[in-house]
Amino acid sequence: MEKLECLLPEDQVQTKIRELAARINKDYAGKELLVIGILRGAFIFMADLVRRLEVPVTVDFIAVSSYGDETQSSGIVRILKDLDENVTGRHVLLVEDIIDTGLTLRYLCDYLQARGPASLRVCTFLDKPGRRKVDLQPDYRGFTIPDYFVVGYGLDCAQRYRNLPGIYIYNPGEKEKIRGEEKEERGVPPEEDKPSEQAVEVRSRERGPSECRKNGI
Ligand code: IMP
Ligand code: MG
Repeated sequence: MEKLECLLPEDQVQTKIRELAARINKDYAGKELLVIGILRGAFIFMADLVRRLEVPVTVDFIAVSSYGDETQSSGIVRILKDLDENVTGRHVLLVEDIIDTGLTLRYLCDYLQARGPASLRVCTFLDKPGRRKVDLQPDYRGFTIPDYFVVGYGLDCAQRYRNLPGIYIYNPGEKEKIRGEEKEERGVPPEEDKPSEQAVEVRSRERGPSECRKNGI
């Protein structure tokens, strides 16, 4: 099987951006928006989205690290780059690439809410509700997808593929699976046995490559 299988081609992605922007323009008519992107994954989605917004917009970014270890979402979120803008009294739209367990966004929503915004809404490009660990519903959602590990349009696997214009299901190659199994048998943690350019260990098809999970920002 090909490593990358197209799930959402570029034209579908762009059609959705126009739909989302139209809804946001309507909902925020007469207001000013502070759009906050969660780095790095949301950078392309946010760039496309804000270019279609007609209300006055200020942009800012926050960078977080979501995962405590390679494969399990810990719920512990570390802020790597904080906001430059003041949130108090502003209409905030938090932009995310994909919601998986929801732990990252739960944390960030609480973090922003504590700073007293006039309003706070969440806009995600993709949503994997099947893996949710906390009750979190985005206000704006591009697509709901099954539990695939996906790349492209800002989303990465070990920092690669973010530049692809569409969304692709990541299927690890047979060689990589074998490498992963061998390493598990030897009990070698992936950090110590640096993978070749594309060789990433896979523990389970559903959870996606551990390298990718580890870099879950
Ligand atoms: P959550 O806290 O489990 O909701 O984690 C969400 C973050 O994990 C996203 O911002 C992504 O960076 C990353 N992530 C979750 N699923 C995928 C995927 O399928 N591909 C790439 N990154 C993902
Ligand atoms: Mg992210």
